[in-house]
Amino acid sequence: MPSKKTTILVTGGAGYIGAHAVLALQHSGYEVIVLDNLVYGHRDIVEKILQVELVIGDTSDRQLLDHIFATHKIEAVMHFAAYAYVGESMVSPAKYYRNNVVGTLILLEAMLDASVRKFVFSSTCATYGRSETIPIPETHSQQPINPYGASKLMVERILRDFDTAYDFKSVTFRYFNAAGANPTGLIGENHTPETHLIPLILLAALGKRESISIFGTDYSTPDGTCIRDYTHVTDIAQAHLLGLEYLLKGKDTDTFNLGNGNGFSVREVIEAARHVTQQEIPVVEYPRRPGDPSILVGSNDKARKILGWSPQYLDLNQILTHAWQWHQQQHGKQ
Ligand SMILES: NC(=O)c1ccc[n+]([C@@H]2O[C@H](COP(=O)([O-])OP(=O)(O)OC[C@H]3O[C@@H](n4cnc5c(N)ncnc54)[C@H](O)[C@@H]3O)[C@@H](O)[C@H]2O)c1
Repeated sequence: MPSKKTTILVTGGAGYIGAHAVLALQHSGYEVIVLDNLVYGHRDIVEKILQVELVIGDTSDRQLLDHIFATHKIEAVMHFAAYAYVGESMVSPAKYYRNNVVGTLILLEAMLDASVRKFVFSSTCATYGRSETIPIPETHSQQPINPYGASKLMVERILRDFDTAYDFKSVTFRYFNAAGANPTGLIGENHTPETHLIPLILLAALGKRESISIFGTDYSTPDGTCIRDYTHVTDIAQAHLLGLEYLLKGKDTDTFNLGNGNGFSVREVIEAARHVTQQEIPVVEYPRRPGDPSILVGSNDKARKILGWSPQYLDLNQILTHAWQWHQQQHGKQ
């Protein structure tokens, strides 16, 4: 357990994964400050549920950052703040490079000037592009096929160069699909707009959407639908604690996949959701969407071996059960 004075700045802590990380940090005795511009985040979650200090502002606001670093003794930064809609990044790349790359660079420069040199970064499997091997190891080639993935890869590169030049240490996590909700039902996934498969399926189960769309039923997978990796958000949050401790112990810059290790097809996820929710969940089938790889599954061997990460909720039914509890609560259908 860290000393009470170990303070961590969490950018994007009012968002889905960031809020789960804040909860994990609190449980481990850290002090937390959240910086979030609330473009997608939820103020109530930070102020009423997590009850930590919330600074409403942007990672590109250098004056605000200088003020935060001057008034708090921050040991490390966990950086979740970013835009993460792949489709939007295709039509508005400038928005993604400005927020995800320029916004991050401004934050990193403010950290350097404040002599804060420990950074945990949310990257993505979208940096890999099309997968050549399954499960994907961290050494896989990185050729992103959309500006979102490219923006994250640029930050990965910046972090390597910062280490070389400034002895700035970072842990980069490449997530696959974060899923599920805090098992106690305290917090969960609430994106607007929602584009992730599991919440969309559960919204259909709740009658908030008419149906769930399957894009492509002729992939070379056992049931013809795409296979993806769903990693429980609580396991991802736990990995962040391990990554932080790794940096606080003075270890070197490194990169880790946070994947489930097993993939589930779209049809498997829908079937499991029917089982968990006991609802019918109507399905409409469409042709493939351009740019959707057939299988994306990450190897988690390196995070297990080096960080001692031991994900607790690899079972799809469990991930869905936690997400369903949260969705029912959100929509008042206990
Ligand atoms: N959800 C996933 O499955 C997934 C997968 C791979 C990577 N990621 C990455 O994980 C991180 C968190 O994802 P999430 O699903 O929790 O997203 P989210 O949208 O729920 O959370 C992001 C938060 O960052 C805030 N934010 C965005 N830009 C900001 C800025 N410039 N300054 C201050 N706050 C800002 C938003 O208001 C939001 O609260 C992102 O960096 C995303 O790219 C997510």
